[in-house]
This record gives sequence, C-alpha cells and structure tokens, in this order.
Amino acid sequence: MRVDVAFTPAGLAGAEVAGRTVFVVDVLRASTTIAVALANGSRGIIPVSSIDEAMKLVQTLERREVLLAGERNATRISGFDLGNSPLEMTESTVRGKTLIMTTTNGTRALLATTGAATVYLAAGVNLSVAGARAREALEQHRDLLVICAGREGSFGLDDAYAAGRLLALALGGRRLRKGLNDAALVSLDLARRYGVGWLRPLMASCAGRDLVSLGFRDDIALAADEDSCPVLPQFADRRITLAPVTVTAAAQ
Ligand code: MLT
Repeated sequence: MRVDVAFTPAGLAGAEVAGRTVFVVDVLRASTTIAVALANGSRGIIPVSSIDEAMKLVQTLERREVLLAGERNATRISGFDLGNSPLEMTESTVRGKTLIMTTTNGTRALLATTGAATVYLAAGVNLSVAGARAREALEQHRDLLVICAGREGSFGLDDAYAAGRLLALALGGRRLRKGLNDAALVSLDLARRYGVGWLRPLMASCAGRDLVSLGFRDDIALAADEDSCPVLPQFADRRITLAPVTVTAAAQ
C-alpha cells in the first residue's frame, strides 16, 4: 500500500497517478467552490485549462443551461458569469446548471489526474466524507495519492494542511510511516501542528493572505467551516458530479 502526497501537480508523472485513488485538494478555493456548487444543485462542473477552451466549449452547449466560472489572479474573468468564490454558488444561481470552470491552480491539478482509477475532490467543507472515502480505499488495499493544487507549481500551506487532515482520517489515527512518502509525513505533521481549526493555517497561507487583500475574507471563513457541505465531488469523463455518499460515511 502506498500513500503519497504531491504538494503540486507540476512534474507528476503518469506512472505516479495510474490506477490510484486520487484526491485533489484546492481549499482556497476551487475544491471548496465546487463542493458548494454541487451541494446547491449544479448538474456538474467541466474543468478546462484555459479561458480560450472555456469560450469554445460554451459555444457547443445550450447557453441557458451553462455558466462560465473561474478566475485569474483570484478575480472573475472578463465575460464570465461567475468567479471562483463559493459564496457565488447559491442555489438560485447554480441549480440545474452545468459550470464550465477554469482556475489558476485547481483545474490544473484536476487535469493532472489522467489515468487514475478514481478521482475525488476534498476540502475542509467536506473533510469527513472525503476522509471516510479515503479510509475505505485503504481498507480495500488501494494506493492513495493526494494532489495539492498548490500555487503555480509551488507549495501551499492551505492545501498541505488539508492533505494532512485528510490522511489523518484515512489512517484512522495510526501513526504509520511505511508506505508514506515524505510529503505525506510532512502533511500529517502540519495537521498535528495546527490542530483541528482551519482558520489559522488558511489565514497564514499565501493564498489566504492574498484573498484577504482582495476582499475575499468571507470565502476563507466559509472554507474553514469544517463539514458544512458533506458531499463528495467525483471527477470522471471530464466532468465533476456528486459521488453517492452513504450515511455512515457522511457521519464519520
Ligand atoms: C486556484 O485554482 O488557483 C484557486 O482556486 C484560486 C482562487 O482562489 O481563486
């Protein structure tokens, strides 16, 4: 059994992803925003790597049923319907709609999962559900990989902390070393250092500080609200939809 964390999708080789159960983490903000959109009734999210690709794809779909969402430098892209704020994903806005989404780091991490057996999205808002699914995967002797979106190819404290919290649940409190890569060990150390409150590591991270300076402090508060959105987004066939979640998984 292998349990690995990648602090960034940059340089991930296909062989490191192939056949694994993968969790993509972009707490600030893509994985949080996607969980909220799906919980509020979005039909699905199609992640794309560029603005150009989003613009081309939207032309092939029924425009009334689609919303363009995404950011560059955390700010809504010109001509898009929505940015990347979870607070924008209200039920009245997203119910019944497909979102085409492009973000700086989150969608890049998702698109690095080609070849994985299964791909889920994890954040603070769905931590227990995601942790229960990760634990199930380990019980089934599946190799686990957590891909942190990070920041343009480098380490992000927010995502590394989230990876540690997720692995702590997956390992059920066992302090294993065997089968864990160094990034997984460091993530678990970070989770122990910061404890169970999300606000401190999120606010300390570069991503958090940037969002505060741009006026998105409330997004961080929402992202820090653990288990407030107990859904499990799953990425398959180019689309993110809700994976079925059992009541016990949600309650763990
Ligand atoms: C990203 O994908 O880079 C982030 O979610 C950026 C953001 O906070 O909008």
